[in-house]
Amino acid sequence: MDRRRTDGGIGPQRPDDGPVRAVPRHVACVMDGNGRWAQRRSLPRTAGHRAAEATVIDIIETARTAGVEWLSLYAFSTENWSRPDSEVAFLMRLVRRVVRKHAPLLLARGIRCRFLGVADPRIPRELARDFDDLTTLTAGSRGMTLTVAFDHGGRQDIVAAARSLILSSTPAEKVSEELFAEHLPFPDTPDVDLVIRTSGEQRISNFMLWQVAYAEWVFPEVLWPDFRAADFLSCLHTYRRRDRRFGGVPATTNGDRSR
Ligand code: IPE
Ligand code: IPE
Ligand code: MG
Repeated sequence: MDRRRTDGGIGPQRPDDGPVRAVPRHVACVMDGNGRWAQRRSLPRTAGHRAAEATVIDIIETARTAGVEWLSLYAFSTENWSRPDSEVAFLMRLVRRVVRKHAPLLLARGIRCRFLGVADPRIPRELARDFDDLTTLTAGSRGMTLTVAFDHGGRQDIVAAARSLILSSTPAEKVSEELFAEHLPFPDTPDVDLVIRTSGEQRISNFMLWQVAYAEWVFPEVLWPDFRAADFLSCLHTYRRRDRRFGGVPATTNGDRSR
């Protein structure tokens, strides 16, 4: 299969010479395929996680220069705690090293960083502190906002919002979608426009469930450690040719008036 395939041909496309939409404002990536990348090289799964670092840095820079305002990366799910202890411990150490190593670059590029999740007491205290330090260091940055979903679960966030609403004693009839969204973690986060899930898997895996309600999805076959700027730009291109309808009629039909 062509490793540059981005969406398996799924989804209504605009005609080749039709208008293209703007660069997506919010792109979210499910960084999948590290384990398979390693297994194909007869390496331990952890080698795949280590190789993922280069992709992360490449994609952050590519997204920023392409004009993406919000980039969200799914790094560790609430379900990933079920992995072998040694793999979880490796990921904690690796993420700590990556955060510390690249903090100066992220600051220099004007990227505002924050971490979505990070509620579980099993997260090493030093790692949680590094997350806080990077968040504080880059809080004043006005470039792209990078949200790293770590110990994240979409359902967990929705439950947290429900709890927060109940604690605010809001009368039931006042609860609207807008008000509910204000109680989610990081309520300023705009809806996701485009989700990229690498490695050919086609699942949500509990990722930003509220925010992806009307996102476009692409599923490149390429494994995350091999995913590079050109692949990311190809996904943006696919998105820009998509016909987003939001329940309406295709933009190209102009209702029935063109008949
Ligand atoms: C994604 O790669 C990284 C994390 C979930 C932390 P995987 O580790 O899920 O790789 P595969 O899916 O087993 O190939
Ligand atoms: C989703 O990938 C989580 C991250 C990429 C961090 P998984 O590989 O854990 O998801 P499943 O198990 O295929 O659903
Ligand atoms: Mg996986």
